[in-house]
Amino acid sequence: SILPVLLAGGTGSRLWPLSRTLMPKQFIRLTGSQTMLQQTLARTTGLNAMAPAVVCNEEHRFIVAEQARQAGIELDKILLEPFGRNTAPAIALVAMQQKARKQDPLLLVLPSDHLIDDDQRFLALMRQGAEEAAKGRLVTFGIVPTGPETGFGYIDAGEALGADEKAFRVSRFVEKPDQKTAEEFLAAGNFYWNSGMFIFRASVYLEELENSRPDIFEACEKAAGAMQQDADFDRVPADIFQACPDESIDYAVMEKTEKAAVVPFDAGWNDLGSWSALWDVENKDSNNNVCIGDIVTHDSRNSYIRGESRLVAAVGVDNMVIVETKDAVLVAHKDSVQDVKKIVQEIKVQE
Ligand code: GDD
Ligand code: MG
Repeated sequence: SILPVLLAGGTGSRLWPLSRTLMPKQFIRLTGSQTMLQQTLARTTGLNAMAPAVVCNEEHRFIVAEQARQAGIELDKILLEPFGRNTAPAIALVAMQQKARKQDPLLLVLPSDHLIDDDQRFLALMRQGAEEAAKGRLVTFGIVPTGPETGFGYIDAGEALGADEKAFRVSRFVEKPDQKTAEEFLAAGNFYWNSGMFIFRASVYLEELENSRPDIFEACEKAAGAMQQDADFDRVPADIFQACPDESIDYAVMEKTEKAAVVPFDAGWNDLGSWSALWDVENKDSNNNVCIGDIVTHDSRNSYIRGESRLVAAVGVDNMVIVETKDAVLVAHKDSVQDVKKIVQEIKVQE
């Protein structure tokens, strides 16, 4: 059986000021009428899978429970972290929770903040991935790259794992390469971006993690063994989890394992990582502007302008991001949106 595992512990700081510590982007309606978490949950219902597990920060537990309820989706117990230690531990904790229940499902690990165009195609590809995962592989879903982005993992696809050529061995996985390396990968031609979605058997993940990062494995085992459980939540104890290294699955496992496979993903994907990614996916007016809320523009082009509570007017601007909320306004050049997170770091230092 398949257990959807939704990772919802990120901060989404590049989407400040809409995405906040108390309300990160996965819990917001960024596109459409459902939040990103709800869209992701809804997408898994066609899989006939187990009740999804959500891993998130303690302080978001009621948001998660309420959004699932609104979407009409029954969750497994929500796993609560006192603080983030990144994705390698978050996934390990779910795998260990399953092990404690004497279960060993295929974990379908999904970031809770991605946009996918074609839900039917998504399901078909997940089933494809499940087939490879059932054979003991750690499967990632690969996106055909459109530029030398440095915020993604890169996958060097090797030989096909079957005559139908729907999955390939991963000969190399490189998380977030520098600009020069990313350009080389792009020129080489056989590379995919890592989508951040994975499927593998819980026990296979734990074996590979124990091999490559015994320190993370052991810290998680201690934390999982001391989990505080009640009817709705499993809480990871802070004093023990404190000692767990902060590392993503990409560095801790995917770069090191010999068992990785990639299924090319062609169901339309955008990780909505930044304001320019949102501009890319939204409908534009005749001047190529995305205007959300009460917006007036004159002689303005190629911009993302969003007002949450007030009228926003733009005159003579090009390639700008303007986001107004009740207590903060962002004005940024569209080419600099990756650095919005630096502002967030600075604000946190000032507080
Ligand atoms: N529960 C929990 N705890 N979830 C977390 C934590 C944590 O400590 N840290 C991050 N997450 C969640 C985020 O909310 C997001 O849904 C997902 O895990 C991935 O984390 P990101 O922080 O968004 O990762 P990334 O974007 O830098 O990189 C990953 O995604 C790229 C594609 O979007 C990597 O897998 C890259 O290789 C990949 O290309
Ligand atoms: Mg991300």
